[in-house]
Amino acid sequence: MTLSRKRILLGVTGSIAAYKAVELLRLLTKAGAEVQVVMTEAATRFVAPLTFETLSRQEVLLDMWSLAYSHRIGHLEASQRAQLFVVAPATARTIARLALGLADDFLSCIYLASRCPVVVAPAMDCDMLEHQAVRENLARLRDRGVHIVEPDTGPLASGMVGRGRLAALSEIVGRIRLILTPRQDLEGQTVLVTAGPTREPLDPVRFLSNRSSGKMGYAIAEAAAARGARVILVSGPTALAPPPGADVIRVETAEEMYRAVLAELESAGVVIKAAAVADYRPTHKADNKIKKGGALSEVALEPTPDILAELGKRKGPRILVGFAAETDDVLANARAKLQRKNLDLVVANDVGRVGAGFDVDTNAVTILDATGGTEELPLLSKREVADRILDRVTALLRRAA
Ligand code: PMT
Repeated sequence: MTLSRKRILLGVTGSIAAYKAVELLRLLTKAGAEVQVVMTEAATRFVAPLTFETLSRQEVLLDMWSLAYSHRIGHLEASQRAQLFVVAPATARTIARLALGLADDFLSCIYLASRCPVVVAPAMDCDMLEHQAVRENLARLRDRGVHIVEPDTGPLASGMVGRGRLAALSEIVGRIRLILTPRQDLEGQTVLVTAGPTREPLDPVRFLSNRSSGKMGYAIAEAAAARGARVILVSGPTALAPPPGADVIRVETAEEMYRAVLAELESAGVVIKAAAVADYRPTHKADNKIKKGGALSEVALEPTPDILAELGKRKGPRILVGFAAETDDVLANARAKLQRKNLDLVVANDVGRVGAGFDVDTNAVTILDATGGTEELPLLSKREVADRILDRVTALLRRAA
């Protein structure tokens, strides 16, 4: 009964997957939660409100204009009571409403009035999901801190096969559990995370860099802090807000990252290197801006320090996790890095795959371990990937204890 007495609002919208919301309601109540359901008008075309009302033993919120709510402000009352608001399934239309802040039905009014965590589980046809408008709306919600449970790939109601199926209900319930009853399995640990790109200057205004946004590393830092760790985040230049609870050390170049990581290494029991460190830097930085038309036909480069390889040499009992950003022979190249750099885990990241790698909010990775094991993860939000990596780290810590 891990969700015992937790007050959850379940928003159901007009997708064929609305029938799965009935089972979701059952799973949540079985776990001990008190669930109230709010339905859009379109949802009622797929499932009768009576079904939800009977199973939840609570009135279903339907019509804002109903006289039943005339003596109280229904959307405020419902949102104030809730400890979590989950919208599953969420159609493209509801996602757009939430992203735009439209308050034109009960569900979208509750979203605007709510101060609790919000979870959105999209379900729609694959072409709709890939449309720029839907992607932008989901990105906007993510930026606002809404938890998106990424849809699965498989047969769709249209007869097509693709991404768009409502995520597995166990995945949605797992995410709700994580938010309402966060694990504290990293309490007492110090986790050192690196994130973002490095910049290697050519002159005072130009640099060599890469497309890393820092999102993957920041998600790991945030997840580790939420699980009770002391977190030191060594970050290259990014536009991201510091993750709550993490001590952030900002650096610019690979050399600065190298020094910062080594300076903090002593206290860290776990190091996770998600940063995209430049492998080469210009041998010389011009003091003044190199003028247009000047002799810049060639830039001489030299290797930067390989921070992870250095950590591998000094490993000891510390858990060491590296990433491998690859575009070809992904697993073989990642395994070679795991062995060469003396790692416990390597996260193989196929950065050529749509929705994975640099700058996006999602990632699809395979985790390889030192015993030859591999765990392929589906496309997940970077925060979910972070938690999956930390699950592996905590398993290694338990084994070592
Ligand atoms: O930041 P995002 O936009 O969210 O994108 C995430 C990501 C794609 C950057 C991330 O998921 C990722 O794959 N990070 C590793 C990028 C990388 O530099 O990979 P690599 O295969 O070149 O390096 C292997 C490992 O060695 C990495 O852990 C890297 O941090 C480390 N390294 C590399 C070079 C160097 N000089 N020092 C290092 O420590």
